[in-house]
Amino acid sequence: MKPMTKSPLQIARSSYEPKLPAALQGNVVLNVGSATESVADQAEIKALFPNTYGMPIITFQSGNKIEYPIVNVGVILSGGQAPGGHNVIAGLFDGLKKLNPVNKLYGFLGGPSGLVNHEYIELTQEIVDEYRNTGGFDIIGSGRTKLEEEAQYEKGAEICKELGINAIVVIGGDDSNTNACVLAEYYVQKNKGIQVIGCPKTIDGDLKNEMIETSFGFDTACKVYSELIGNIQRDANSAKKYWHFIRLMGRSASHITLECALQSQPNICIVSEEVEAKNMTLIDVVEDIVKVIVLRAGHGLNFGTILIPEGLIEFIPAMKKLINELNDLLAHNDDFNALETDEEKRQYVKGSLSPESSKVYRDLPKGIARQLTLDRDPHGNVQVSLIETEKLLIEMVAKRLAQLKAQGQYKGKLSCINHFFGYEGRCAIPSNFDADYTYSLGYTASLLISSGKTGYMSSVRNLTAPAAEWIAGGVPITMMMNMERRHGSMKPVIQKALVKLDGAPFRYFDAHRNDWADETQRYVYPGPIQYYGPTEVCDQPTITLQLEKGL
Ligand code: FBP
Repeated sequence: MKPMTKSPLQIARSSYEPKLPAALQGNVVLNVGSATESVADQAEIKALFPNTYGMPIITFQSGNKIEYPIVNVGVILSGGQAPGGHNVIAGLFDGLKKLNPVNKLYGFLGGPSGLVNHEYIELTQEIVDEYRNTGGFDIIGSGRTKLEEEAQYEKGAEICKELGINAIVVIGGDDSNTNACVLAEYYVQKNKGIQVIGCPKTIDGDLKNEMIETSFGFDTACKVYSELIGNIQRDANSAKKYWHFIRLMGRSASHITLECALQSQPNICIVSEEVEAKNMTLIDVVEDIVKVIVLRAGHGLNFGTILIPEGLIEFIPAMKKLINELNDLLAHNDDFNALETDEEKRQYVKGSLSPESSKVYRDLPKGIARQLTLDRDPHGNVQVSLIETEKLLIEMVAKRLAQLKAQGQYKGKLSCINHFFGYEGRCAIPSNFDADYTYSLGYTASLLISSGKTGYMSSVRNLTAPAAEWIAGGVPITMMMNMERRHGSMKPVIQKALVKLDGAPFRYFDAHRNDWADETQRYVYPGPIQYYGPTEVCDQPTITLQLEKGL
């Protein structure tokens, strides 16, 4: 293996020792809780997962030494990158070696397709050491292939048999963990002797519930974006001439946008879930923005910041209906795919939608309408990261302000700059929180495997306490499931966690947003992630997590 050229910070970080919960530091025993139920649609989920439904929650605690069997494990990184993925692998590797030095860890290359196509490497001490505490998923690569067909499960079983692999760890978001659960159930049903364990990953922060307090990567990504937003706010407040429209990643849920708002206190922050709850139209969203711009202009302030969640478009009810119809219409649609020009595609779509949605589609600027019909991801979702909502809003806001100016109701000057932050944060060097959390998740996964568990998600809780007090264990994935419509039919899926409007983070934001919007200067400049220094600077979890925990 060719060693990387490392920056001084990378060199320093390679010797950082992630903190583990105290319960995992010595000998560990398993504590079995009571049986579980899925969050909804219990009868359907139980019927689909007869072997992995209803299993108990598990926690690990200090205890007597146990002799664990030899296990070989394969690990998969699935979906979008999130800071800390390498540390899940390091924790898994260290845990496996500690439990039995003969245990082996294989990495499937390029995501779930590595399992199906039999592309893998053995992860040795030398390789794992090279990637400790680093961002990115490049140790084995990631991919978005969906594991959903029996033929794929069988190909996976073939390579596991060949390598003597007893367990697969899927590090992924809600869709990938749903697939992990289906795979776990299949391997039990077919008596393959292969366990499957999931790990909660996604910067989007929408894989969380009672037992999973946060997905890894959310902490680091939000801190990176908040630093950038703070820098922009300081620039805006210095030059006093631009309105910055900043779109933030997060596919559907607005957790990233809300967390960044809590960290940086922008003038405006749109929360998609609120837009949906209030049944707002795009025009309503524009009017809300315009009000703040006019208010600030009245005080001579022709600058500011606006945070826009990536998924906004999908939460505007009429747009949501349109997107759902497009998802159903375009799933595996060979007729549409065979059309050559954009105009042919546009005509085809217009003619196939319901009259209501067809009107919404026709009324959109052509560029945005086209973006809605671009390639889906392998899970059938619109790739919202390709839809430039911030530019759409700039266009509409400018038009409305021009009208107001003509009517003498706005005397300001509007110059807008658009930004999109997403890829900037997904591979950042993990914060101490993410470095510790991911290492603990990986280590916990090794214990779940060695204890013979399958269909579980590695879980580490009590995350606002010092790491020593974190609670590690496993949660049955079926417990997080409900039935949802996907690709035109009902499927069992992990329930996505959206921003709760009655939750503490949103309520805090709601109580303060008017103060952040007006002429008083409330910007916060969070600055870059700190890895070394006082704990209040380096080890703080997100404000979202703190507020959710009542802190
Ligand atoms: P995951 O849900 O797989 O973690 O991905 C999150 C994400 O970063 C979204 O925020 C974004 O919409 C999407 O991935 C972008 O996908 P891609 O990396 O394929 O461009």
